[in-house]
Amino acid sequence: MQGSAFFGKGKTVEYISSKNIFLLLRDTLKLLDRRPMDHGSRVGYLFCKMLECKGGYEQYELADFLMLATLHDIGAYKTDKMGDRLQYEFKEPMKHSVYGFLFLKYITPLSSMARMILYHRVGVENIPKENFEYSKETEILSLAEAAEIYHNALGEGFDHEMFRRQEGTYYSTEALNLLDKAVDRFDVFKHLEDESYQNELDGILEYMIYTNEDKEKFMKTLMFCIGLRSDITLIDNVTSVCIASLLAKKLNLTPASSEKLYYATLIHDIGMLSIPTNIIEAPRKLSPTEIALMRAHVDREERILLNRMDSDIVSIATAHHERNDGSGYPRGLTSANMTREQNILQIADLVTALTCERSYRKTFTKNEVVDILKKEISDGKINQRIAECFMNSYDEIMTEVQMQTKEALNMYNSLTEKYQTVYGDFEKNRVIHE
Ligand SMILES: [Fe+2]
Ligand SMILES: [Fe+2]
Ligand SMILES: [Fe+2]
Repeated sequence: MQGSAFFGKGKTVEYISSKNIFLLLRDTLKLLDRRPMDHGSRVGYLFCKMLECKGGYEQYELADFLMLATLHDIGAYKTDKMGDRLQYEFKEPMKHSVYGFLFLKYITPLSSMARMILYHRVGVENIPKENFEYSKETEILSLAEAAEIYHNALGEGFDHEMFRRQEGTYYSTEALNLLDKAVDRFDVFKHLEDESYQNELDGILEYMIYTNEDKEKFMKTLMFCIGLRSDITLIDNVTSVCIASLLAKKLNLTPASSEKLYYATLIHDIGMLSIPTNIIEAPRKLSPTEIALMRAHVDREERILLNRMDSDIVSIATAHHERNDGSGYPRGLTSANMTREQNILQIADLVTALTCERSYRKTFTKNEVVDILKKEISDGKINQRIAECFMNSYDEIMTEVQMQTKEALNMYNSLTEKYQTVYGDFEKNRVIHE
């Protein structure tokens, strides 16, 4: 898988800082629903402060743990209703634990820590003690999570000593002692209450260090986050990435331009995470209000991308619905103030919309796609040279696209299969087989 065009880009240029990777991932998931990320940030704070009391960690290690703790409930986006935390944290915690574990293991660069998520709700007695590098940290994470939930729910009535009742059965003595210390040394719950914990998180994030290879993987993670909401949008996105990359090659873009286009295409629709699925997948014409809401996905993503990433990448990504004659959105840019990379993504996105399957309409045939593109050219909406380049190599490009999307989606679909195996087995035997 690693050697293919889709997975093995081998990017080397720095377009985003490690800290901004974290912020972008967090804020992208917040578009979907902010609650698991707000909870994750607060758990991350408690967890890091408890680890600080334990001692022996470098700052960059704490930063890694903060990333993991913030994402610890990421699986719930796929497996549960966001409003029903009681269900996924207490009644049936294994669903989101298993999906989160698999997502982190196979999609993100955090695979070595992913098991912490699998065991974050099983209680100290069930956390593996052998062959598990992060056994102790998982015990601590598990208490940090519970402390955040109860502190949030009980308000004034919260007493962190309440967890002592489950000492040795659900929480480890070490973790409980560390929570005591974190309260004494850092007054952690007060910092959660007055929100000042956020400044401290900011300080930890300064130490985040990811390699360029990790960053590229995180950029792909951002795209795969789209699949947490809608499989169709993810398939569209993978298709656009393939078409844009192949067009960049055909049009002899410089390596730097191709890279920027590639990153922009990965994230160009993350704003769609803020749009309700019933609008995205509506098998009918949208009302004017719904169209306005749908269009807002570009503004929403621009808000979280700006100042966090190379500005060329942001401007390519956010111009994917613009048209050369000024009829596009959100800015109504015209060809005079658009770049070739922006024009390539517009065409890749348009072809994707025409060729990807929808439950409510058939996909367009090659002849129909070509006719539509010719009409768009004569109406002055899309770049003629790029569109002609695409039409001239239609079969070659679309065959390659099919191969590459299949590969990416196989990997993504195998997550669902693994989920069914691991969770199904747990349901039957109450044993976790990773
Ligand atoms: Fe949680
Ligand atoms: Fe959880
Ligand atoms: Fe879009």
